[in-house]
Amino acid sequence: MIEPLVGAASSVVVVRHAVVAGALAVLRSRDSSQIEFRSSARTIARALAYEATRDLPTEAIDVETPLTVTSGHRLSAPVVVAPILRAGLGMLDAFLDIVPGASTGFIGLKRDETTLLPHEYYRNLPPTAGSHFFLLDPMLATGGSVRAALDAIDADALASCTLLSFIAAPEGIAAVSAAHPRLRIVTASIDERLNDCGFILPGLGDAGDRLCGTV
Ligand code: PRP
Repeated sequence: MIEPLVGAASSVVVVRHAVVAGALAVLRSRDSSQIEFRSSARTIARALAYEATRDLPTEAIDVETPLTVTSGHRLSAPVVVAPILRAGLGMLDAFLDIVPGASTGFIGLKRDETTLLPHEYYRNLPPTAGSHFFLLDPMLATGGSVRAALDAIDADALASCTLLSFIAAPEGIAAVSAAHPRLRIVTASIDERLNDCGFILPGLGDAGDRLCGTV
């Protein structure tokens, strides 16, 4: 199901799954409607969330079944999830389906289409000390947005941080790995490259616009 990328500074996991592959094809197609795009985005985000949270620490608990008492487990450390606005919002509900008790923060970033540099317009994060931190952004292009998001979180959150993305460009992976070597990345695809305008190829267009219906 998963394919670790050997040789990357950061830990990169590509989720390989038949349903995810089908949903990714829907995202890539220029002919997919906003409804189809949102639905497939949710499918992929769920799969990424399952994979990204696979090894969260748990503690043993007793569970009373209708017949007897047995042992079970529950998550033992707080989880914080933060979408990068706007497009990351399209992944949030799916993540919360998997970890409903996660505290939620928001980081608003807009990439300047000429300079490709991100401009931060909003940040509201809950306390992250002792938490496992998950950052949501469907697109890792130059990596500027993720770097900007991570540059201002505390050391605890950074040490535990995992980025969930639908598609990632090699250039973006290299850039965020160089700046944050301990970052874990869980993605559905490592695409070929960036084009001259900083868009991912083959890509899926602008995820924020397609999710929000602002194309
Ligand atoms: C897009 C995308 C990422 C970012 C990736 O957002 O959703 O956040 O660009 O590019 P980077 O890796 O080069 O920084 P955009 O700035 O278009 O904002 P939006 O989500 O509001 O559409």
